[in-house]
Amino acid sequence: MRLFALSDIHIDHPTNRQWVDELSLHDHRHDALILAGDVSDSIASLRWCLEALARRFHIVLFVPGNHDLWVYREAPGIDSFDRLDHLRTLAADHGVSTQAWITPELAIVPLLSWYDGTFGEYSPELRQRWADFRACRWPAGVDDAAVCARLLASNTTARPVARTVVTFSHFVPRRDLLTRSEKWTFLDPVMGTSALDPCIRELGSHLHVFGHSHRQVTIERDGVTYVNRAFGYPAEQTPESARLHCIDPWLNA
Ligand SMILES: [Fe+2]
Repeated sequence: MRLFALSDIHIDHPTNRQWVDELSLHDHRHDALILAGDVSDSIASLRWCLEALARRFHIVLFVPGNHDLWVYREAPGIDSFDRLDHLRTLAADHGVSTQAWITPELAIVPLLSWYDGTFGEYSPELRQRWADFRACRWPAGVDDAAVCARLLASNTTARPVARTVVTFSHFVPRRDLLTRSEKWTFLDPVMGTSALDPCIRELGSHLHVFGHSHRQVTIERDGVTYVNRAFGYPAEQTPESARLHCIDPWLNA
């Protein structure tokens, strides 16, 4: 079994959806895929994508990203926690796991998270331009820090008994993994949380897969390798980013 990583597939872009549609139905029947969030804000598209990937891979493990939790099209009573519950059920119904997958050789552990201001304060420009502030909905009195704390608290803390442990999240677990140009640094505060990395280390992770920043990176920090294999929007893709990435070479590095 080979292990692949993919995030930020954003299949509302037709060419991204087409790429998923054209993935081989045979080549990955014995492989596992980490799908690290940001598929679509449409339930119908999410269902299509999860089903399409589950049909192609032996195992698909998924954490939702921020776009997957947008509820601006839903009735006012539906919030983004409700969407998260819905996605867990949707995933399970289509053969995609949102739970840890553990064998003696390899454990793969999904970690929910959000952003909480630990990467910097929200500027007026960020408050104006960041779509989550209008597209996500949380219960009254629940701010981003509380969302992040609640999602982190829902994660498993039991260190898996496995020779190699892989963790994954949609959000960035350390600010020093951000590689954006100066033009985009105003987004840093909504990229992730510093509270996530201690969880990764508590679980004994060797390799952590993340997404959200739309920058493909492989970086080692204090004994853990962090990889981002974001597919990204068509305008930012390169031949290297717009393909499926096997992350086996980093499993035992
Ligand atoms: Fe994202």
